[in-house]
Amino acid sequence: MSLFEIHSLAEGLESTRSYEYTKYHPMDEIYGWMENVARENPEIISSAVYGYTYEGRNITLMKLGLENPEAREKKVVWVDCGVHAREWISPAFCQWFVKEIAASYKTNKKLRKMLQNVDVYVTPVVNVDGYIFSWANDSTRLWRKSRSTPPPGSSCYGVDLNRNFNANWGTVGVSFDSCSNTYGGKSAGSEPEASALMDFVGKLVNRTLCFLTIHSAGQLILLPYGHPETSAPNHDELLSVGKAAAEEMKKVHGMDYAVGTSPEILYPNSGSSRDWARLTGIPFSFTFELRDKGEFSYLLPEEQIQPACEEAYVGAISIITHVHDKTFSGATVSSGVAMTIWSGVMAAFLTSAGLV
Ligand code: ARG
Ligand code: ZN
Repeated sequence: MSLFEIHSLAEGLESTRSYEYTKYHPMDEIYGWMENVARENPEIISSAVYGYTYEGRNITLMKLGLENPEAREKKVVWVDCGVHAREWISPAFCQWFVKEIAASYKTNKKLRKMLQNVDVYVTPVVNVDGYIFSWANDSTRLWRKSRSTPPPGSSCYGVDLNRNFNANWGTVGVSFDSCSNTYGGKSAGSEPEASALMDFVGKLVNRTLCFLTIHSAGQLILLPYGHPETSAPNHDELLSVGKAAAEEMKKVHGMDYAVGTSPEILYPNSGSSRDWARLTGIPFSFTFELRDKGEFSYLLPEEQIQPACEEAYVGAISIITHVHDKTFSGATVSSGVAMTIWSGVMAAFLTSAGLV
């Protein structure tokens, strides 16, 4: 044991080496894990509070990235989890994702390169109040919404945060009844959790390549848009990138993930963060609906945390690799040199052929 470790233990700090990624964790443990994993991996992880929930709790993200050797401005990939309280596999995935990157970036050259070009912002739990409520007792386990207080004349708490974003808000697949599970709130962005996310990501839009929001269940990769009468300008590319991810995911444990827009393979909806991200100008935006297809649904057993996260990790990395390579292939110094040589050859050819 090193002196530093003795010091840490003396301070009462725990190590994430013993953290159980194959169990679900209550929010206080996730907060503790975020502090520890950032402290233990200072070269790639930092954390930041970018908003507060309705009940005043921190909304915290982890930024994963390495210094760019050419000091070039970095692009951004966004990943969030825990928008719907009961979808416990989602925060488990965000923790797995951070753990996996922290464990492999030193030896995985491609990952290292990508982290030099891109900062990955990961929010393990967006809907902290709802997540805590879903842990309170058996009768609250299936809570979905936030925990904002009922509007006048109602006694029903909470808003469906994935109906509260500024994207065709209040048009389809949403309820105006505050007692409904799909209540969209009193206006777009009325909820502090949705508005904090839109404010933070909104400032990064021109650097952001990709927005991934992780839900369960159903084993789906959803593309924008949720509104059946609208279509993303790059729909075909979104579909092919989503299908490539699903193929990679199937190789891990043989599980099928369907790919399509929400109206095509789930249901029409409006006010989702995925649609907001695409509408605001982020070219690649996807919702992952993780395991399973209905047997356990939101009550996915802990035995499935590992396989579900392993396949989802591969899917997320597949998409991130695509957006990275699309942006950065040909942008390195060495290929810049190759391009200059090629231009010279081309010019000589055109001249000799009498074309210029
Ligand atoms: N997470 C999903 C949502 O945002 C639920 C997907 C539907 N899943 C299901 N088992 N019916 O609404
Ligand atoms: Zn959900």
